Amino acid sequence: MNLKELNSVALAMTGNGKGILAADESSPTIKKRFDTIDTESTEENRRRYREMIITAAGAEDYIGGVIMFDETIRQATSDGVPFAKYMSDRGMVPGIKVDTGAKPLAGFPGEVVTEGLDGLRDRLAEYYELGARFAKWRAVINIGDDIPSDFCLQANAHALARYAALCQEAQIVPIVEPEVLMDGAHSIGRCEDVTNAALDALFGQLAAHRVALEGLVLKPNMVISGSDAQDRASPTEVAEATLRSLKAHVPAEVPGIAFLSGGQTAEEATEHLGLMNQMGPLPWELSFSYGRALQAPALDAWRGKEENYGAGQAALYKRAKLNSLAHFGKYETSMESEAA
Ligand code: 13P
Repeated sequence: MNLKELNSVALAMTGNGKGILAADESSPTIKKRFDTIDTESTEENRRRYREMIITAAGAEDYIGGVIMFDETIRQATSDGVPFAKYMSDRGMVPGIKVDTGAKPLAGFPGEVVTEGLDGLRDRLAEYYELGARFAKWRAVINIGDDIPSDFCLQANAHALARYAALCQEAQIVPIVEPEVLMDGAHSIGRCEDVTNAALDALFGQLAAHRVALEGLVLKPNMVISGSDAQDRASPTEVAEATLRSLKAHVPAEVPGIAFLSGGQTAEEATEHLGLMNQMGPLPWELSFSYGRALQAPALDAWRGKEENYGAGQAALYKRAKLNSLAHFGKYETSMESEAA
């Protein structure tokens, strides 16, 4: 393992005001997204849509890495350039989702554990050949009356750490994503407690598995009220609680933290990121790895229609630029109405 190289890739993904475009929706998930715009989820429509967002002019100034799904890393632009090559040529690091999804955790009703470790060493070697230089694995933590259990947090952290160790062995930067879901009516305080426990378990397992913190990117949830909560916490409270949790748990050796959006609107996700970066200085790059919060406006502008292709690219560009400004701590909500 060349740790210096892993570290510089992690910084290329999250430093310099750049963040990550999470475009790794599995086939069932992208179908759900296409259903909302009455677009059929054919292989060609998926390819064309991913081409639209990846090739948006100027996006490379703000997007340091793109997470792909297995199907996408085997696809190419309309000119026949493999997507991974297209990205590297434009200075965006190609990445790949390698987990195979969250499955019910036997004996623990309501809880899930992420699968995908079997055969992972061989799959990573193939993805490296295909151009991937970072990977993603998402653990899912549900909040409920009696969950998460400590066992669920440990099982998911153990799998994340085994995955991360295999990635580093393969000279691929692991994004470790312990996502505490927003679903539910829980308070922001409950989210903070569960996020703290999940990060505790994660960094314990990463140490036990001898994963080098300098060569990974953390992809956490923000500490935020449940989506059905009464009295939702304000943006400033979200920013303060999230930073409190991260500062207490994430060692300064971690080069970059890139948030998931998790069901926040595009504007909320940008505002929260901007507020946190205004509360610096911080020991790590604090950036974005948004899926829905980067793509929803682009998907809506496109609607599966070729004549909207340019509008879709403009929408993606605008979100990427505003999130980059938020990364620099220079975002103001008034910028939303200004032209991109
Ligand atoms: P969202 O930003 O839509 O939560 O997606 C990010 C992601 O990659 C989840 O694994």
